[in-house]
Amino acid sequence: MQGLHMVGIHHAYGAAKILNNISLTVPAGELVCLLGPSGCGKTTLLRIAAGLEQLQAGSVTIDEVVIAEGPAQLPPEERRIGYMFQDYALFPHLSVLDNVIFGLFRRDRRTARARALVMLDQVGMVPHAEKYPHMLSGGQQQRVALARALAPEPRLVLLDEPFSDLDTNMRARVRQQTLSVLKQNNVATLMVTHDPEEAMFMADRIKVLGDQGRILQSGRPADIYYKPADEYVARLFGPMNMIDGVVEQGGLKSSFGTMALEDSTAAEGSIVRVLIRPEGMILSNGGGDGGAPVDIISAHLLGDTSVVRFKVRNGINSGAEFHMRMSGAFDPTELGQIWARVDLRHAFQYPQNQ
Ligand SMILES: Nc1ncnc2c1ncn2[C@@H]1O[C@H](COP(=O)(O)OP(=O)(O)OP(=O)(O)O)[C@@H](O)[C@H]1O
Ligand SMILES: [Mg+2]
Repeated sequence: MQGLHMVGIHHAYGAAKILNNISLTVPAGELVCLLGPSGCGKTTLLRIAAGLEQLQAGSVTIDEVVIAEGPAQLPPEERRIGYMFQDYALFPHLSVLDNVIFGLFRRDRRTARARALVMLDQVGMVPHAEKYPHMLSGGQQQRVALARALAPEPRLVLLDEPFSDLDTNMRARVRQQTLSVLKQNNVATLMVTHDPEEAMFMADRIKVLGDQGRILQSGRPADIYYKPADEYVARLFGPMNMIDGVVEQGGLKSSFGTMALEDSTAAEGSIVRVLIRPEGMILSNGGGDGGAPVDIISAHLLGDTSVVRFKVRNGINSGAEFHMRMSGAFDPTELGQIWARVDLRHAFQYPQNQ
């Protein structure tokens, strides 16, 4: 298989165990995102792939060639890997064009220059080719760093939090451009981020790394969002609502009615916790199936969405507080009695002892 293959990677700094049996595959043309909290070992894993950190256990293969296993470890410069790190690390004393040419030292000056210009064109930076890094905005520097990483036609690109220094608007734009340039070059890309939305946007596949240095879940973005393997993964996407349901005659009873029980071994009368995303609560001014009357606590317009907090009035969850997001503004005073329902696509059941 063309692409990156890491198997059974363990890593420790002294006595501190950081990575615990990590295996992953990034096929050519795909982008895999490692998503995990600060300090969980994301950068360490990229450095091991790049050869900047000595491999301690496991193996690294690129395009079916083993580049690190046991004591046999190819030096970084022979791995044909392009990197882009958070600070871009452009050479301040070189022009934009020379920054991109720098990695093309194996080619003669004329072909190197032509290749560098092709890459600068792909990222829209040809008009800035003669400028120096300090004359560029953050987004422009990022594009130069991307062109430099891709110019030598690497077999693998490693991106470490590549957009974290950009402001919100710039980030959205640069993210889109980066993705299309990577796809155009059909290169295997391993990217790390702690931003779930960024991972969802960029990745063909996401690997969630927990703070024990273990992979907690792997899957397509929709799997991670709609079928989180455990409470930790579910909570990655932001604060969740939580209700306790009671197991009753094989169903799960709460103030929102009875929903299907996923764990068939749960005992009658026991409590099962249900996590519901803010976008999984629906408010309306009518009752109906599964609707619970609620009292609105607050509503805040954030721009295109509003965040509404409310309390359930009756039933076993009475008094429990929830929050939800809805598009547009929300004025509860116009609506009379409000009812809340749960959109089950955004509700997840986990045993309470987790
Ligand atoms: N050279 C080193 N020597 C000792 N400990 C290190 C070294 N590099 C990293 N660590 C520690 O290993 C852990 C993982 O670090 P790493 O940089 O891989 O995390 P990360 O997931 O990239 O975090 P962040 O999201 O903050 O960048 C951290 O606790 C860090 O302090
Ligand atoms: Mg890091």
